[in-house]
Amino acid sequence: NLFTIESVKALVKDYPDFPKDGILFKDIFPIFQNHRALDCLLNHMADEAITFSKKLNGSKIDAVVGLDARGFLFGPTLALKLEAKFVPIRKRGKLPGILVSASYEKEYGVDIVEIQADSINQGDNVLIVDDLLATGGTCRAAEDLIKKLGANVVLNQFVIELCELNGRDILEAPIHSVIKY
Ligand code: PRP
Repeated sequence: NLFTIESVKALVKDYPDFPKDGILFKDIFPIFQNHRALDCLLNHMADEAITFSKKLNGSKIDAVVGLDARGFLFGPTLALKLEAKFVPIRKRGKLPGILVSASYEKEYGVDIVEIQADSINQGDNVLIVDDLLATGGTCRAAEDLIKKLGANVVLNQFVIELCELNGRDILEAPIHSVIKY
């Protein structure tokens, strides 16, 4: 595989003024059009997570939690590579059963995310994964949910970090982002 993280990064395509004026949208789907690029990206993320988990005094990552919706593109594959379970956090109203919820600030108003209460055990070591870290609100709500279930977020992992929005300042757990702008 001749792909490197630099050449994967070159596949991310900019769309100015999408989904609205003034927003520069970073489209990750061109990476998925080349299986070698996708393989490079996922191996890189898994290697980073494994290196990180080796610092956990002998304990492993028990669960990969993916954030609705594009975190679901990466979470199950990472979970397979880490030999962990995959658990979704979804926007309100999408999950059945007994749920735990947390709210967070969006640009306009408040949004709610939910997790199934029996999906994570007390004391689990959790990796959160999403495609993008912007203001950090979504991931912070995810950290809060996992804490409510008595588990520990050991790493927040992102494909892209928009550094100027300072999302990392409101997150509690360590952060690994593959591509920084
Ligand atoms: C985007 C992105 C992250 C979140 C990051 O998702 O995929 O989940 O925003 O923003 P933040 O750091 O400012 O919270 P979006 O809410 O657009 O939902 P989608 O994945 O369903 O499109």
